[in-house]
This record gives sequence, structure tokens and C-alpha cells, in this order.
Amino acid sequence: MANDAVFDVLVIGSGAAGLTLALCVADHCKVGVVSKAGIDSGSTNWAQGGIAAVLSATDTFDSHVQDTEIAGAGLCDPDAVRFTVEEGPAAIQWLLDQGVLFDTTKRGPWHLTREGGHSHRRVIHNKDATGKAVQRTLDEQAKLHPNITVLEDYVAVDLINRDASGERGPCQGAYLYDQTESRVKTFGAKATVIATGGASRVYLYTSNPDGSTGDGIAMAWRAGCRVANMEFNQFHPTCLYHPEARTFLITEAVRGEGGKLLLPSGERFMKRFDPRGELAPRDIVARAIDHEMKRLGLECVYLDISHKKKSFIKEHFPNIYKQCKKYGIDISKEPIPVVPAAHHTCGGVMVDRHGQTDVEGLYCIGEASYTGLHGANRLASNSLLECVVYATSAAQDILEKLESLPPPPDLKPWDESRVTNSDEEVVVSHNWDELRRTMWNYVGIVRTDKRLRRAQRRIDLLRAEAQEYYGNFRVTSDLLELRNLVTVADLIVKSAASRRESRGLHYTLDYPDTLPEAVPTVLAPA
Ligand code: FAD
Ligand code: SIN
Repeated sequence: MANDAVFDVLVIGSGAAGLTLALCVADHCKVGVVSKAGIDSGSTNWAQGGIAAVLSATDTFDSHVQDTEIAGAGLCDPDAVRFTVEEGPAAIQWLLDQGVLFDTTKRGPWHLTREGGHSHRRVIHNKDATGKAVQRTLDEQAKLHPNITVLEDYVAVDLINRDASGERGPCQGAYLYDQTESRVKTFGAKATVIATGGASRVYLYTSNPDGSTGDGIAMAWRAGCRVANMEFNQFHPTCLYHPEARTFLITEAVRGEGGKLLLPSGERFMKRFDPRGELAPRDIVARAIDHEMKRLGLECVYLDISHKKKSFIKEHFPNIYKQCKKYGIDISKEPIPVVPAAHHTCGGVMVDRHGQTDVEGLYCIGEASYTGLHGANRLASNSLLECVVYATSAAQDILEKLESLPPPPDLKPWDESRVTNSDEEVVVSHNWDELRRTMWNYVGIVRTDKRLRRAQRRIDLLRAEAQEYYGNFRVTSDLLELRNLVTVADLIVKSAASRRESRGLHYTLDYPDTLPEAVPTVLAPA
């Protein structure tokens, strides 16, 4: 009974959050970083607009705090907001120290762009592919570090925190499915960190990469952690609408630089919904687009930046220009067809300021976590900031405790004695599809009690089927993801059903008003 591998710190996830934490602790201990696909397969690599931080002399912490809290519709945790905002400049400096390149101007050190809900230009970026710049640099640093072992194509199945009698205790590592060998391995660690990103793949249409299936949230829930605010899934207002484009975001910075939202008639409509027009917070813009699409029976609306010079467009949005051109759309001459799509999980695993969860030895950082920063609606470009700030803080906490943490014992190996190979893999993909369609149809931008009940009934059935499948057949990555997606869908619907008001991203026709008191939705496992 030997563990397949032991690390001081096991980081599950290799996006901005996971790699930042790994690099911050690696000079002092052995670190394993796991990704269920390639090292750059998370959302970080896809991030476009940039990272929000107070970096100009005309901007202030108070203003960034206020914008975050207004976007969050009164539900942000004020301490988490101030902490994150005030750590912002240091987080950017840390990225610069790693070698991340950001756009500069002749007049000031940085070109800062603007996005919805921000009252200042404060989004530092690298063209329209900021995430790639961050991911590439952190990948290089992690792969060069002698104390970091990067393990690609390993899917975390479950955390290990139960004793022989099944009682929950401290986390001692995780079971990881090695996709190359098709075998579940046992990894021990003094500290385990969930950095698995969000869960937007629970919806049929999403801006996210394939791996955003909420695995970390579901694993932490099974291990006994509370989750909060799962009803607040953010829909990005402008994803490219084209039959051949599966998921391609058109960054909010396009609106920040003057892009206008239009109906097919050419009419601008955002001012009818909010005086801030195209730069209102995301929940308002997505809801306005959804409303106009339903009212007029449209398949999409349009985002127009063609009034700007072609040279400006190619300089600021080279990636979007190129991608759209591939689909026959010249954005310097014509508007871009766009629709809203699921984009960001604002809720997640409850943590303190150091990313510590309810389970000893288990941390959670990045999009998988609930720190209180985003409230009922995340302010654009606050996510990468949260990843770096909380990863740094969790790293400090881990290093302070590491000496006193016992090495993991020999852990119980994965038991495959009662399962066989699946005879009908297609059932898994059918269930995937059914779940994501259910969530899109009944738990989307506009909700009702009746739609939520309808979704809950279907999810109950799908959960029973996924559980039966999981109990009888050898695991595959699709099955593991389905099991997690069903859990996350259940958490979203239960949270949404318990909120008897409309606030931020949660809008229900049955309770259209906002209650005077803002209270987070906290769910605790049995
Ligand atoms: P991710 O970067 O998503 O990484 C998750 C990691 O976990 C991956 O390595 C994955 O393989 C791994 N993983 C997941 N499950 C498992 C498992 N079971 N086992 C092993 N490994 C696992 N935010 C901003 O602030 N600014 C922006 O401009 C911006 N633009 C965006 C544009 C797009 C198109 C998208 C999708 C998001 C954007 N966001 C932006 C949001 C932001 O990118 C994410 O919130 C952030 O990158 C999340 O980072 P993370 O480290 O938490 O997770
Ligand atoms: C975008 O570039 O519009 C995405 C920014 C974000 O999600 O924070």
C-alpha cells in the first residue's frame, strides 16, 4: 500500500491561480501541479480584456472598491473587496517580475483600457490576448523550476480526507486518474490546493474551454466544504454568433473603446435599459440583449466598432480581427453578430482570506473559490486579479504552516474491484447534453420558480443515473466530468430556488424586486 507520489503541496489546476501559488511556494518545498489536459487548457489562456488594478495617478483604491461593489449589487464582502483591490498593484508587479508583458503607451507606463462598470481606465492588458501572455510566462517559469513537477492529463477524481470508518478529517491528497495509463493513482500531500477554475460548461452555450466543469467545487463539496452564491453564474454579453465558431468571446474592451450594440435595424438600444449604455455592468447588458432577442425573435444582436480606424482595430484587437476575418467578418467594415453565453462562476468553495476551506489542509483559489469579492455579479477583469492575490496569500499561509504539518501516511489505494468497463459510453454524452440544455433553457439569464422546479426534476434523474454509472463502471474523464457537472447544476438550482429576490445575475420573474438586506446563499453538505 504505497502512494504513487507524495508532494509537500499538491496543486490541482494549472491556470493563473494554480501556477501563481506553485511559483510562490516552490523555493521552499516540493510541488506537484496537475492539469486534466495540457498545462494551458484552462480559462486563463483564453482571457482577453486584461487585469483590473489601480495603476494610474488619477485612479484610486476607493474608486475600484466602489465599482466592484456596485457591479456586485450590494452582495460583495467589503473586506474581501478592499483586500483584493489594495493588493492589486503588488499582484501586477509580481506578474511583471515573472516576465509577463503588458501594453505600454508613449505617454504613461501602461496602456490601460476600460470595461463595463469601471469608472476609470484601469485594465492592464496585452493586446486582446492578456490571458495568453500570463499563461505562457507562468508555464515557462513553472517548467523551469526544479521543485515543480507538472503533471498533464491527470484528472482529479476525489480528495482524500476520510479515515477507515468513513469519518471526514484533514485532506491528505487526492485520487488522480492518469489518462495515459487509464488508471487512478493515489497522491499524498501535506497541503492540497484546488485551482480548477469555474463551471460554465454546465450551460449549453459558454465562452469557456472544455475543462470548465466545476470539478473542484464538486470535489470540495463531497469532502465536506460549504459552497456559496452558486446562483450567480455570469453571462458574458458578447460571444461571437457564427455557426462555425464554437466559443469565441468578443472582449468587453471593444465596448470600452467605443463599440456600440445594435439591433439588426441599426438602432442602438442599451440607453433604453441603463444610462451607462454599453458600459453598464455585465448582468444589465446581457439581460438587455436577452430581452431584445426575445422581444424581436432575433438570433443575435450586433457589436459595431467599424467607426474606428482599421489601424486602431488591428493594433488593439488583432486576435479578434483575425478570428472574425476567418469567419468572413471584417470588423473594420461591418458589425459583429453576438449573443450572451455563460462565462464565469461567481460563487464557489467558501474560503477565508488565505484560501483556506472548511477542511484542514485543503485550500481553494481562483474561479473555483468564493472569496466574497464578486458578490452578485463580477466586475470585468477582477478575476485574474483575484487569482493572483489569493494565490499569493494562500502560498504565504501554506509556507507558515508547512513545517508543522505531518507528511501524509500511506493512503488507501483506489478500489476498482467492483467495477467493469462501460458498455454504453454514449449514455454519458447524452446525459451531458441533456444537462447542459436543461440549464440553458431553465436556469439561464431569466428564471422563474416553475423553470427551476422543472430543472431540479431533470437534474435529480440525471444525478441518479450518473451515480449508478459511476458505481458500476471504470472511470473515464467524461464520466468524472458528468458526475461533477450534475453536482454543480444541483448546487446552482438549489441556490437559485432559495433566493426570493432578483439581484445582480440572478433575475427571476417571480421576485423581480431586490430585498433591502443582501445575504449570501451558503449551502453546507450533510
Ligand atoms: P483556469 O485558468 O480555468 O484553470 C483551471 C485548471 O484546472 C486547468 O489547468 C484545468 O486543466 C485544471 N482542472 C480542472 N479540473 C481538473 C481536474 N478534475 N483535475 C485536474 N485538473 C483540473 N478574467 C479577467 O480577469 N480578465 C479577462 O480579460 C478575462 N477574459 C476572459 C475571457 C474568456 C474567454 C474566459 C473564458 C474567461 C475570461 N476571464 C477573464 C475569466 C478568467 O480567465 C478566469 O476566471 C480565470 O482565468 C480562472 O483562472 P483559474 O486559475 O481559477 O482557472
Ligand atoms: C472580456 O475581455 O470581456 C472578459 C473580461 C472578463 O471576463 O473579466
